[in-house]
Amino acid sequence: MPQRTLDRSAPLIAPSMLKCDFADLDGEISRLEAAGARTLHWDVMDGHFVPNLSYGAMLIASARKRTNLFFDAHLMVAEPGAYLDDFVQAGCDAVTVHVEAVSEPFAILQRIRAAGVLAGVAINPKTPVERIADVLPQCDVVLVMSVEPGFGGQKFLPEVLPKVRQLRGMVSPKTAISIDGGIGPATIQEAARSGANWFVTGSAIFDQSDYAAALREMENLVKNS
Ligand code: DX5
Ligand code: ZN
Repeated sequence: MPQRTLDRSAPLIAPSMLKCDFADLDGEISRLEAAGARTLHWDVMDGHFVPNLSYGAMLIASARKRTNLFFDAHLMVAEPGAYLDDFVQAGCDAVTVHVEAVSEPFAILQRIRAAGVLAGVAINPKTPVERIADVLPQCDVVLVMSVEPGFGGQKFLPEVLPKVRQLRGMVSPKTAISIDGGIGPATIQEAARSGANWFVTGSAIFDQSDYAAALREMENLVKNS
């Protein structure tokens, strides 16, 4: 049984469950576990902060009954503070909120940590690093969006890489830098070389028939970057 703890400074491929077969969530989780995945990335969308709906804490709570994998929740919702307790109760191990969605990022990051889970802040492609500079000491994870949030399967935006590089120089080595959107074999090495160490990947895993091979290929690309 995998454990619900992670070394935040180590490389990690995080399958984005937005791209999984929802009608076979149980099977998808089993296949990912068998393929060696150590975490599941849950993209929560509310139709307000992003123009799309996905799923919420209830679905994640169901998945928690099936697995002990680390759960990395990415809340693309307008009022994350209103739902925070639900996601903690659901069994999330890290909760990431968008700085663009909160009026007091410091307070909510503190609340997340006080709930006993890892706290993350996310920035959209056009949001500068300066917007989160003050709250970086409150973060266990910093997530840099490399597509406009809302949909899987979009094209990677290389113009966000200087922000990843800038962040790597600002955070402690214990802070994970996550990159999310359009990550796959063609883009993962430049993301790694820029300083990212968590790689959220939807299409590059779920569009493949062999999840283990897809994970291994990307792990090796990171190792050799
Ligand atoms: C986009 C989500 C991503 C996305 C990743 O808003 O945050 O996690 O689903 O999917 P791919 O890898 O297909 O871009
Ligand atoms: Zn995401």
